[in-house]
Amino acid sequence: MKIILVAGARPNFMKIAPILEAIGVHNGKGRRPRMDPILVHTGQHYDHAMSQSFFEDLGIPRPDINLEAGSGGHAEQTGKVMMAFEPVLEGERPDLVLVVGDVNSTMACSLAAKKLNIAVAHVEAGLRSGDMTMPEEINRKVTDAIADYLFTTDRIAGAHLLKEGVQSERIFFVGNVMIDTLVKHRERAKQSTVLETLGLKNGRGFHPYAVVTLHRPSNVDDSETLGRIFEALQEISLRLPVIFPCHPRTRARLDQFGLGEFFDGEGSRVRLISPLSYLDFLHLNSLANLILTDSGGIQEEATILGVPCLTLRENTERPITVSQGSNRLVGNKKEAILNGFEWALRQTKSLTARPDKWDGRAAERIVEVLARISRRKFHPFIANTSIPTVPGNAMVLSS
Ligand code: UD1
Repeated sequence: MKIILVAGARPNFMKIAPILEAIGVHNGKGRRPRMDPILVHTGQHYDHAMSQSFFEDLGIPRPDINLEAGSGGHAEQTGKVMMAFEPVLEGERPDLVLVVGDVNSTMACSLAAKKLNIAVAHVEAGLRSGDMTMPEEINRKVTDAIADYLFTTDRIAGAHLLKEGVQSERIFFVGNVMIDTLVKHRERAKQSTVLETLGLKNGRGFHPYAVVTLHRPSNVDDSETLGRIFEALQEISLRLPVIFPCHPRTRARLDQFGLGEFFDGEGSRVRLISPLSYLDFLHLNSLANLILTDSGGIQEEATILGVPCLTLRENTERPITVSQGSNRLVGNKKEAILNGFEWALRQTKSLTARPDKWDGRAAERIVEVLARISRRKFHPFIANTSIPTVPGNAMVLSS
């Protein structure tokens, strides 16, 4: 089976890495059906810090093809990826396109493939925030509506898909590939010297600190909202130094709104730094006393790391991180953020949780399912009405 795996933006790379690795392990074993992976990078993220450094840290092979789509408005970026991906599909004629997550590249490549009657598998399907103002929610719903095989991280996601009319035979509860990567690299990340570099560690031990990441348009694109969040961060920093690896989008807004000086000013204990590599960021987060974020994936990572996490959003597509993990939704109002901070300070017991199948083996399960699909004489021109029934469907796999 010839498979194109798509990665476009930073949160995709740690999801693709374990799947590529599991395909390699699978191919090395006995008479298993062979899979020929082709890695396509759409170029949605292109800076070294947002892309290449993840390939280096995670040992991901160089992409076979780079579409070099780059930045742009939503329509422009989506259109550029689709236009560049179509000739690749026509040239390669893969049996399947596998996409991960919810970024513009995910939706664009799914659409391009389905229009050519090429089967699509979506990893991290069924997540729903219920918030249609988020571009990611639109990307998730469109991708899931047309995907042939939907791999989910938890049962809540599976329930959303069933409610939306997806046949259970197409839903596979496999676990969380992002956590595969965390589990694999957690030990190695301990060798990172990021804490020393940031002056958070000395001969006597660690200083307590908080980590912040922000990039959602709803938080960073409006100067008043961003200013309010920053006031809360400044107040928190009086009690706990705050490390803020700054996303390029946020950096651009800070400069635009004249807020950068707010941090660079003398005495500020909020430290703006460039985006970190995967291993440095993992190490920084794993020893943090608190994480404040609006990212989806970091809510999941905080859950496994057992670090209290305040999510600066009104909703989450990952409710399991609230019900089982260390996550708490606080929105972006100053008082609510500060109340959340007080809650986090009161946490004394370990918050570490491990939702079902967040065990480091999700990619292995995905490749197992792909192998079964392949063995059943997988037909590339799959029609929605004639999906082959795959043994080990949602019900079987989730048992
Ligand atoms: C994208 C994803 C979001 C994901 C986030 C992680 C969509 C709709 N959003 O948001 O789900 O959580 O990535 O980072 O796909 N830029 C650079 N260098 C880069 C990449 C981006 O400077 O390597 C700047 C550009 O000015 C660009 C802006 O960041 O216009 C936004 O990038 P874009 O990929 O459009 O969306 P993100 O906000 O990164």
